[in-house]
Amino acid sequence: MSHVLPPGCALVDLPVKGDARGSLIALEQGRDVPFAIARAYYVYATLPGVDRGFHAHRNLRQFAVAVSGACTMVLDDGRVRSEVRLDRPELGLTIGPMVWHEMRAFTPGCVLLVLADALYDEADYIRDYQRFLEAVRG
Ligand code: TYD
Repeated sequence: MSHVLPPGCALVDLPVKGDARGSLIALEQGRDVPFAIARAYYVYATLPGVDRGFHAHRNLRQFAVAVSGACTMVLDDGRVRSEVRLDRPELGLTIGPMVWHEMRAFTPGCVLLVLADALYDEADYIRDYQRFLEAVRG
């Protein structure tokens, strides 16, 4: 497992607007999130031991933050597999297109917020790992 993220993927430390009352993080397109946001969704109430994802997107770019709790994101570009623990609301992860991703080890109560640059489109998914490898290896 590598610590180098696949091309098109990046981790960012988000600026916290903290004061005596607590903390606030704003996600602005083009500033904190490196694309125009078309969709937001959140994964929550994941049952213990359940893994999610197991797909790549042909074109979609996404930005994920564990706004509560933690989960592990496995990223695979067909050559190298890397792993990132999203375990604080200040940590944002961009996931580029053609990156196989799996989400594992959700803590109870984890809420994973995901912003995406396009509306939901099942045709954009590659859900079979062999087909993904064929696509990235040409
Ligand atoms: P899926 O992408 O398979 O979830 P995960 O990758 O987290 O395991 O999506 C689960 C279901 O939700 C599937 O039926 C498609 C639907 N869905 C939408 O309708 N809109 C969305 O924006 C997303 C992400 C999923």
